[in-house]
Amino acid sequence: MKILVTGGLGFIGSHTVVELQNEGYEVVIIDNCSNSSEDVLVGIENITGKKPFFEKIDLRDRKKVNDFFKKHSDVAGVIHFAASKAVGESVKIPLTYYENNIGTLVYLLQELQEKDDANFIFSSSCTVYGQADELPITENAPVKTAESPYGNTKQIGEEIIRDTCKVTPKLKAIALRYFNPIGAHKSTEIGELPLGVPQNLVPFITQTAMGLRDKLSVFGDDYDTPDGTCIRDYIHVVDLAKAHVIALTRLLKNKNKENYEVFNLGTGTGSSVLEVIKSFEKVSEQSLNYAIVDRREGDITAAYADTTLANDELGWKAELDLDEAMRTAWKWEQKVRNK
Ligand code: UD1
Repeated sequence: MKILVTGGLGFIGSHTVVELQNEGYEVVIIDNCSNSSEDVLVGIENITGKKPFFEKIDLRDRKKVNDFFKKHSDVAGVIHFAASKAVGESVKIPLTYYENNIGTLVYLLQELQEKDDANFIFSSSCTVYGQADELPITENAPVKTAESPYGNTKQIGEEIIRDTCKVTPKLKAIALRYFNPIGAHKSTEIGELPLGVPQNLVPFITQTAMGLRDKLSVFGDDYDTPDGTCIRDYIHVVDLAKAHVIALTRLLKNKNKENYEVFNLGTGTGSSVLEVIKSFEKVSEQSLNYAIVDRREGDITAAYADTTLANDELGWKAELDLDEAMRTAWKWEQKVRNK
């Protein structure tokens, strides 16, 4: 069965392609390589023994997208990762974010509306909850005003899909709200490759340990948490990837309860910044150079998932812990830099 993965050369996309191929799906990838490289195909092939079909297409090129769907009319499902994701950048160039993340979503859904049976998985984010009033966060927690154009594209994206599903019964869709994806494939064939200075915690830690950065700045230790640093729900990217395959299979087998569903994907456990550093120091057997600095604007105090819905409905549960995620992230960083 043929599955289209947009952004399939990216961090979460590439891990999902591996899990799809492991489950016997035929994968076709569209990616514009703006934040990824064709080399990722080699890593995927080394793990699975199979090179997925790849076409370099920018989803904003509507004609090419249309031609692609004509050529691949047997696509049974789409997992849509392709999007811009840098929060700070999105504040500076909002229209680029709306065009990239919203315009292309509309094109894709228009293509899917033409099909007799369409199945769609959307990359959403826990960012839609902002600072939730209650922890852990369930899917029923209210969506808060977005802090950035990036966050807004996830909220609007979800609304667009929900509205489209309402009037298109043959379209089935699931939005997956990720908490904080980290780690790498244990083979070290694929992993995260941030462009420039990483904004996210874990790549900043591994790059600091590698000597690419002088020290990690811990943004604030005066939060209302046990050790004063912010708490997040860090989920191993391989667990996350597996959840995509399960969600898609649910739709393909018509096991969904509504034609638009939403699930949180996290571990259910919160870890503070200092706990993440400790985990890294343990698995890498070295100490990390870090200093406490002022809070980062826009950071929330704590977020971690209630995963009951995904556990019960998808039969999915995160299996890999923080240490395993930090171990693989570190192995990956070493491999990339020592090439
Ligand atoms: C960030 C994005 C969020 C996105 C998510 C994806 C912001 C404000 N939010 O969330 O929209 O969905 O990534 O993974 O950018 N930290 C440090 N020092 C650093 C980097 C981070 O102390 O150099 C701390 C942060 O204050 C935070 C934690 O580490 O408490 C995690 O930060 P990060 O990896 O950027 O993720 P989020 O802020 O949760």
